[in-house]
Amino acid sequence: MKTKLAFGLLMLSLAAPAQAAAAQVNIGHRGASGTRPEHTFAAYDRALELGADYIEQDLQVTSDGVLVVMHDTTLNRTVRGPAENCTGAVDTKTLAQIKTCSAGAWFGAEWEGEKIPTLEEVFQRYGKTVNYYIETKSPDPEDKMEERLLALLDKYDLRESAVSDWQVLIQSFSADSLRLIHQMDERLPLIFLGGASIANLPAVAEYAVGQGPSSGGVTQAFVDAAHALCLSIHPYTVNDVATMQRLLGYGVDGMFTNFPERLDPLLPVRWNDRDGARAAAADDRACHARVKRDAVGGTVPATLSLTMGAPASFGAFVPGVAREYTASTTANVISSAADATLSVSTPGHLTNGTFSLASPVQVEFGKTTWTGPVSNESVPVTFKQTIGAGEALRTGNYTKTLTFTLSTTTP
Ligand code: G3P
Ligand code: CA
Repeated sequence: MKTKLAFGLLMLSLAAPAQAAAAQVNIGHRGASGTRPEHTFAAYDRALELGADYIEQDLQVTSDGVLVVMHDTTLNRTVRGPAENCTGAVDTKTLAQIKTCSAGAWFGAEWEGEKIPTLEEVFQRYGKTVNYYIETKSPDPEDKMEERLLALLDKYDLRESAVSDWQVLIQSFSADSLRLIHQMDERLPLIFLGGASIANLPAVAEYAVGQGPSSGGVTQAFVDAAHALCLSIHPYTVNDVATMQRLLGYGVDGMFTNFPERLDPLLPVRWNDRDGARAAAADDRACHARVKRDAVGGTVPATLSLTMGAPASFGAFVPGVAREYTASTTANVISSAADATLSVSTPGHLTNGTFSLASPVQVEFGKTTWTGPVSNESVPVTFKQTIGAGEALRTGNYTKTLTFTLSTTTP
């Protein structure tokens, strides 16, 4: 029997129910983008004035490798200025080109002077006085967005406070981008942006501290399931008071809004400065102190097992009579392989001492291939032997031993 190893793994996560995190934070989506041009200092300043606990930055990379804060991958929607510098893809323009553009004129003449900030300029302006909610937007491995971001966090001494106080939360729709950052520093607090799927929460919990779902799909059950895994939930983008109230009623841990002033009075605690982020981080630590994940599982050892039934017999061959004789047995097949094949050696001729039958014995299977695992399947095996009317038959027993093989190429 040809055996190639195979194995399987069953994992089941276990978690005890947990209480909802208490701290609920107000995230200024692209700054106060409802009343100021998004991702400008005007928008960030205003968000902080209006009670935002976090200001959000979407990242893009210029052609000369500088992280700038901008939502779209192109300049067309929110940027005005010389066409050669201020239209088209961000990653085809140098920072010097981009700095010739206005990031505010599209929103209103009074914002004409607003420029596209670099992330470094944002850190230089606000330093360690505010909380940042930074999104790796449409990351391309060649852009090294994640590497550049962590280098800037280090340069402005924000990495450790991100870890301890959630001064920086890093978000992305790209799980690959977040997993890459998690590999670089597993302590950094990450938020996965994606639909409110309860089934996906355990996978998110492997690398993230929370999830940002689109607000429309959020339910009480989803929030409860997330909290059971110590995941914070920050829906986006919530601009009407009724939806804010509904989500706060579910116990979400904050939300993105273009209008921080609408959310601020609805929050049970209106945090000062960086305190909301600190409280959220503390809640997360407390949750993990009382909720432990464990795993239970099992393995399937590689198994290919073939058992043949009782030896088949054609009975007595009658000399002088043309006839096809049949005999049968069974093959019992057990396989944990992704595929398996049952075969037999070249049958050849039944022999009786030095005498052989004229025609070879034939073998037929009820089934010869499997495309997945199988346990104890009984496969009919039929033998056929033709005897001619003029065929000379010597007294005695005619036998032939055959070799049957169950094999796989994908154990
Ligand atoms: O990051 C939360 C929310 O901003 C995601 O949507 O397209 O506005 O970046 P988007
Ligand atoms: Ca965003």
